[in-house]
Amino acid sequence: MKKLPDELMFLEHRKAVQLTTDARIDGKVVVITGATSGVGLEALKKIVLNEVYVFVVARNIFKAKELINHLKINNNAKIDLIEADFSILSDVRKAAEEILNKTSRIDILINCAGLHSTKRILTKEGNETVFAVNHLASFLFTYLLLDTIKASAPSRILQINSEGHRFNGLNIDDLDWKNRHYTGLRGYGASKTAQLLTTWEFHDQLIGSGVTINAMHPGDVKTNIGQNNGLIYRLFSKLVIQRFLKDPKVSGESIYYLIAEPSLEKVSGQYFHLTQKSVPAKHALDRTLGKKIYLKTLEICEID
Ligand SMILES: NC(=O)c1ccc[n+]([C@@H]2O[C@H](COP(=O)([O-])OP(=O)(O)OC[C@H]3O[C@@H](n4cnc5c(N)ncnc54)[C@H](OP(=O)(O)O)[C@@H]3O)[C@@H](O)[C@H]2O)c1
Repeated sequence: MKKLPDELMFLEHRKAVQLTTDARIDGKVVVITGATSGVGLEALKKIVLNEVYVFVVARNIFKAKELINHLKINNNAKIDLIEADFSILSDVRKAAEEILNKTSRIDILINCAGLHSTKRILTKEGNETVFAVNHLASFLFTYLLLDTIKASAPSRILQINSEGHRFNGLNIDDLDWKNRHYTGLRGYGASKTAQLLTTWEFHDQLIGSGVTINAMHPGDVKTNIGQNNGLIYRLFSKLVIQRFLKDPKVSGESIYYLIAEPSLEKVSGQYFHLTQKSVPAKHALDRTLGKKIYLKTLEICEID
């Protein structure tokens, strides 16, 4: 049968049997965002079966506590909850500071917090919310933790990205959609494209450091994503879209594979569809645009 073009291979990869690993991550310090629901929660369930020290960054600390009470946890695992709303960059800074005050090593960082919004909503700092949470926050958080991650090498950073980056929508002159009609898919695509483009920039800076950075699509799975939207969207999602989606257990297994599998220790700068190496859309490989987005993101995050 004729092979699909590389950038359409994700259609095959979603049907593939996904890889798993029995490797353990005992002794590691892990930082994870977005672990109070869906994909991140499934990853957390796997992580805490090890003797790990995990920082769970959550905007709703009561929800996080309640969830953790019901998890099966290794007797020697420690979980530390850090409260932060990742739509607010000052909260991201506070979370990073709190973590750095508590640990001098970070072996694994998983940037998973994310959302999809059908409406353009600005944060109190003036950023478009989806762009702020999916891209700006994960960028700033990674940047602030990077020295410690480097000092802990070999270490790994995993960006929970999305095939939704293919919807694009990224316009460097209008990141907040002031001058364009916002749509949920394009806003989501812009944020995930920016995250991918800056992942390649981080990767270049990290060559030779012993730190890997990869991005992954966690599958098309049944989670709470989109449940912040209006009633019609929520009903459509629950009654129609979710019928075609998989159990997010596969996402948790795949995230765990990418952070734990020994053969991936030196694999960096890659995009995975679940556990299959994949090729992102062309616009997400535009390194000229990537450099511009990197600089623009530093500016928005007020990093010198
Ligand atoms: N589901 C899919 O099929 C799919 C496909 C591709 C990519 N993804 C990506 O996977 C990641 C997780 O999504 P999901 O599907 O698991 O959705 P989900 O069930 O809604 O989980 C999203 C997670 O992000 C957290 N979060 C959202 N906004 C936040 C904020 N402002 N501050 C701090 N935390 C925030 C949520 O916290 P709360 O619990 O407090 O809401 C939750 O823990 C996202 O990056 C998403 O883009 C998912």
